[in-house]
Amino acid sequence: MSAYHCFMTGRFITFEGGEGSGKSTQARLLATYLRSRGIAVVETREPGGSPFAEALRNFILDPATPPHAPLSEALLFTAARADHLDATIRPALARSDWVICDRFTDSTRVYQGAAGGLADAALATLESLVVGDTRPDLTVLMDLDAATGLARARERAGGAPPDGYEARGLAYHDLLRKAFLARATAEPSRIAVIDAARPIDLIADGIRSLVATRFGPA
Ligand SMILES: Nc1ncnc2c1ncn2[C@@H]1O[C@H](COP(=O)(O)OP(=O)(O)OP(=O)(O)O)[C@@H](O)[C@H]1O
Ligand SMILES: [Mg+2]
Repeated sequence: MSAYHCFMTGRFITFEGGEGSGKSTQARLLATYLRSRGIAVVETREPGGSPFAEALRNFILDPATPPHAPLSEALLFTAARADHLDATIRPALARSDWVICDRFTDSTRVYQGAAGGLADAALATLESLVVGDTRPDLTVLMDLDAATGLARARERAGGAPPDGYEARGLAYHDLLRKAFLARATAEPSRIAVIDAARPIDLIADGIRSLVATRFGPA
């Protein structure tokens, strides 16, 4: 396959990992790099990524939203995802744009499944219903020890009080890390584990190499 052909084929790349692991930083750097190579890139995120899904995001993340069970939460995330796919992701891929998404289905499986106690099989069923064959071509898992991730997230917030997820303890965040790694073990051809403790530029180089290896030179 020629490099030119690769330019013409949209790719769907997701970034996953715990709080402060560098997902947003690396998603932005990869998008900027690909654009510099002439590729049309749609940068998006979950929850959110379309008007309806962003409205749900505001509701889900609003501290005033009453507490609700992981199942309700998973269904809200899934409703947001259904619209995000229809309104943003599928149209972009149909135009042969590349899509870079900050969090996607693996976060649901980890936060509401492994950490929230929902059966993985139930989440897998919801996922196949909503995602269908629009699965990511590549998922970059930013792997970082929980203490470093939390420290980074707090520093970024200028010492502001942590949000709902960040406010939980180190043991919780370590459970999340292990659950993300287990997903990578289960789907090694899709999920690449990146050592997120290194300097930003080194990580970005590694991700560019990974993308070139998977999809050909950009
Ligand atoms: N490799 C790195 N080394 C040191 N600091 C980093 C690195 N990557 C990102 N940071 C910094 O850590 C903070 C968190 O990074 P970022 O927002 O990209 O993480 P995130 O995974 O998107 O977090 P969240 O889950 O909270 O959205 C930012 O202040 C960012 O500048
Ligand atoms: Mg982020």
